[in-house]
Amino acid sequence: MNKNSLYSISYGLFVLSAREGEKDNGCITNTAIQVTSEPTQLTVAVNKGNYTTGMIDRTGKFNLSVISEASDFSLFERFGFQSGRDVDKSDGFQDVKRSENGILYVTQNCNAYLSCTVVNKIDLGTHIMFVATVDDGDVLSREPSMTYAYYFANVKPKPKPTASSGRVWVCRICGFVYDEEKEGTPFEALPADWVCPICKHPKSDFELMNKQ
Ligand SMILES: Cc1cc2nc3c(=O)[nH]c(=O)nc-3n(C[C@H](O)[C@H](O)[C@H](O)COP(=O)(O)O)c2cc1C
Repeated sequence: MNKNSLYSISYGLFVLSAREGEKDNGCITNTAIQVTSEPTQLTVAVNKGNYTTGMIDRTGKFNLSVISEASDFSLFERFGFQSGRDVDKSDGFQDVKRSENGILYVTQNCNAYLSCTVVNKIDLGTHIMFVATVDDGDVLSREPSMTYAYYFANVKPKPKPTASSGRVWVCRICGFVYDEEKEGTPFEALPADWVCPICKHPKSDFELMNKQ
C-alpha cells in the first residue's frame, strides 16, 4: 500500500476542550467531522494518552473550536505540544470564553465553536471515538477554516537545517523532531511499539531529514 494515499484526505483542525471540576484543558485534533444532521451529531477520535480524552470520557461534554487560517503556530504550541497533565494550558491565555455548558472555547483565530454532549463511544484501541450531539454553537469570524494541508504548508515551522552530527527524524503528522544525538538512541533501535510523544503516531510516520 502507498501510505501517501492517506495524506490526500483533507482534515480540519480544532481545539477540543473539556472541563472537569475546576480543571480546564484542551488539545489539538484533526479528527472532528459532522456525521448526521437529524439529530446533529459529530464524531471525534482522540488518543487515549491525551489528558483531554479522559476528561471527556469522565464528564461526557466537550467544546470544539474550529481553527481558522488566521491562527499562528502559538495556538498549536499551547494546545498540541504539551499536556494538561503537566501544565495549565489556560494559564495566561486570554482568548477564551465560557459557553453555556461551562467549558472554555477559543475566541481568537477560530471561526466557530460547537458545544457537544457524548452519546456513544467506540474503543478503537489506541483512540476513543466519541459520538456526540451538538447542543449549541456560534460563528465567530468569516476567516476560512484551516485545513491540515494549510497548517503544514504555512503554519508549522519548517525543520531548521540541523547542526546535529546525528541523524534527525521528523514526524510527518505533527512535526516532532527526534534527534538521535540528543536522544542517545538510534531511531531504528526504538521498540516497534514506540510512538511519537506528541501525536502518538507510530514509527512508520517518521521520515529521515538528514540522510547521511
Ligand atoms: C497539528 C496537530 C494535530 C493533532 N491531531 C491530533 C489528533 O487528531 N488526535 C489526537 O489524539 N491528538 C492529536 N494531536 C496531539 C495532541 O493535541 C497533543 O498530544 C496534546 O498535547 C494532548 O494534550 P492533553 O494531554 O492535554 O490532552 C495533534 C497535535 C498537533 C500539533
